[in-house]
Formats: sequence, C-alpha cells, structure tokens
Amino acid sequence: MSLETTMHNALNEQLSREYIAHFLYRAIAMDLYEKGYDGFAAWMETHASEEYGHAERIITYLKDKNVRVVLPELPKPKESWDSVRDAVAAALAHEQKLTADIHKLHKLAEDTGDLATVSMLDWFVAEQVEEEHIVTRLLKRIDLTRNSDIGLMVLDAQLGGGTSEASSGAGE
Ligand SMILES: [Fe+2]
Ligand SMILES: [Fe+2]
Repeated sequence: MSLETTMHNALNEQLSREYIAHFLYRAIAMDLYEKGYDGFAAWMETHASEEYGHAERIITYLKDKNVRVVLPELPKPKESWDSVRDAVAAALAHEQKLTADIHKLHKLAEDTGDLATVSMLDWFVAEQVEEEHIVTRLLKRIDLTRNSDIGLMVLDAQLGGGTSEASSGAGE
C-alpha cells in the first residue's frame, strides 16, 4: 500500500469519528430538549451540524483526490445523560479525543510528506482549538450555576430560548 493510500484510508476512518460526534451531539440535543432545556438543545444541534460539516469537508477532500469514499457503520449513541453538566462534559471529552485524532492524522501527513493533506488538516487543527474552547466555556458557565435549576434556566435562555427550531437558526 502506498504512503498516500495509507493516508487516505486514515482520513476515511476519521469520517466515522466525525459522524459519531455528529450523532453524539444530536443525541445530547434530543435528550436535553426532551427535558425542557430548549437553549442547551439548540446549542448542541448547532454543534452537531458542525460535526456533519467536518465529515463533509473530509469527503470533499477525498473526492478531490479521486479517492473512493466508504461510509462507515455507526454505533448507536447513548440516549440519556444524568444532568446538563454530564451531557456537556461528554461533549468536551469527545472534542478532546477528536483533537488527539486530528493531531495524529496531521503527524502522519507530515511524516509522509503529504503536503496537500497537511494543508487540509491545518484547518482542522485550528478548528479543534475553537471547538474545545467553546465547549469548555459552556461547561465553566454551567459550573457557575452550581447545578441550581434557576441558574440553568437563565443560562438556557441565554443560549437560545424559545423553541430549539426557532433558536438554532437552522431554518429550512
Ligand atoms: Fe469535528
Ligand atoms: Fe467538534
């Protein structure tokens, strides 16, 4: 197998991790929505869409490189979390794992002299800094509420308010 093929296969595997993140955040959003946290749910839906976008970005790159993309089988995500904090902490843990994955891919691209892939992954390296930052900020603000219902409701209203359909900005 050529070095380039090894790299492309590794990128194809990253697809499944981006889709797993998409699924995980959607599952969290549905759980929080069901529990009445419209704002947190909308925030998570937006984040889920970003993960879908990351998968799309990798697919576009592989297609540009004339590589056949193989879609992965995805595990069923967890359905319920004990608290808003637990759910957001799960998202942060997943982001930290994604960052490690992206760094490994970037290193592989560097080591194999695959400059096109290095350039493509530079975007992901910067994106992960932003992703970890926003989830860490949210977790910090949740901790400020000391798990009080009123505190969580204030934060929930700040994040979106109204229905998650209206506040996600997703539109039709
Ligand atoms: Fe991602
Ligand atoms: Fe992310």
